[in-house]
Amino acid sequence: MNILLLGSGGREHAMAWKIAQSKKVKNLYIAPGNGGTGTVGTNLAIAADDFNALKTAVLEKKIDMIVVGPEDPLVKGVYDFFKNDKDLANLPVIGPSKIGAQLEGSKDFSKQFMFRHNIPTAGYKSVTTTNIEEGISFLQSLKVPYVLKADGLAAGKGVLIINDLNEAIAELRNMLDGKFGAASTTVVIEEFLDGIECSVFVITDGTNYKILPEAKDYKRIGEGDKGLNTGGMGAVSPVPFADKVFMQKVEERIIKPTVNGLKAEGIDYKGFIFFGLIKVNNEPYTIEYNARMGDPETEVVMLRIKSDFVDLLEGVANGNLKEKTIEFDTRSAVTVMLVSGGYPEAFEKEKVISGLDKVSGSIAFHAGTKLQNGEIVTNGGRVIAISSYGNNKDEALAQSFANAQLITYDKKQFRSDIGFDL
Ligand code: AMP
Ligand code: GLY
Repeated sequence: MNILLLGSGGREHAMAWKIAQSKKVKNLYIAPGNGGTGTVGTNLAIAADDFNALKTAVLEKKIDMIVVGPEDPLVKGVYDFFKNDKDLANLPVIGPSKIGAQLEGSKDFSKQFMFRHNIPTAGYKSVTTTNIEEGISFLQSLKVPYVLKADGLAAGKGVLIINDLNEAIAELRNMLDGKFGAASTTVVIEEFLDGIECSVFVITDGTNYKILPEAKDYKRIGEGDKGLNTGGMGAVSPVPFADKVFMQKVEERIIKPTVNGLKAEGIDYKGFIFFGLIKVNNEPYTIEYNARMGDPETEVVMLRIKSDFVDLLEGVANGNLKEKTIEFDTRSAVTVMLVSGGYPEAFEKEKVISGLDKVSGSIAFHAGTKLQNGEIVTNGGRVIAISSYGNNKDEALAQSFANAQLITYDKKQFRSDIGFDL
């Protein structure tokens, strides 16, 4: 079959790497892809949200399935676009409908959904300019710190955790005044949960689901989890504290009610669900949903799926996921992200990357790179994710760190403490 994968990050290189290993695949295209995806498939110079251009490519390249990497095309309705197209209504698009993607696209929507289905999550109140006073009273009723979230997509920057009540009230006003543009027209105020986080993923055909390997990502730029939030500086799988007992609670209290809730509400959802979880006193709570796989978690999850990934995707497309089996690789997998100097604040691009040919015993997934005049250059904040296997996480990490030294570009930086807290 011919597959078209949408996106251009490390997640997409990892998915493309795994998809390309399937005997079921004839041609793999990535739109727009990056400097790495072009080595396992064919990049198409089409933006992931240019639906009309994607349709032309689907017809021209005789695409049998679209797999959606990032949230943006999902929230913009790529699933519905193809479903409502008379020529392509039967083309499987692996990803939720526009309304399903609201689990990620609107914090207010996702909190309401969790409360409707009794899914454990932090207490909250949604606030707009019409009920600011209620928002302030809610803040006054909470203990420090205060969690304020822009309702809409804000490129991972829309969450503020504040230690002072007056500052939280001031920030609530700033957000409603447009601090995050239209994304913060509604602000979700949440009770703070204190615990340790991990990411759990399922793939679902709308009725059945398979749980994928879990992962823990490291979001802060600095070692010891200090400094600004990033898209993710590294990841580890498996996660020791996500043991059997914990995962059973997650499945019963969170995964099943989510999949069943979507179905009961008539929400079309055939794709990935990312559960951002926190373990508080041994009990799982849902911090957030995403309507896609995580990045950089995918750069370890794909290593730990032993079965044919395309077989699972077909199960989603055909609604027979129940008949499929998923086998995990029992080894540990880790990834260490090399980023641009200055990231997550301002950084320069187009730095020549060398040493990729020296990498051995690890896989260098490209995140922000592009091919320019025959050279691979930096093209984003997160540049390369170096993924490795090991008999344990330390062995895998040693491998990734060794290769991290071999890849060079101006102002390269990475965290050398990934996995430190496990
Ligand atoms: P989110 O975009 O909702 O995942 O929030 C980003 C990050 O903020 C999470 O990964 C947590 O580290 C933190 N966070 C969000 N909500 C809460 C909460 N209610 N309690 C504690 N930490 C939170
Ligand atoms: N690594 C977190 C995310 O993909 O949102």
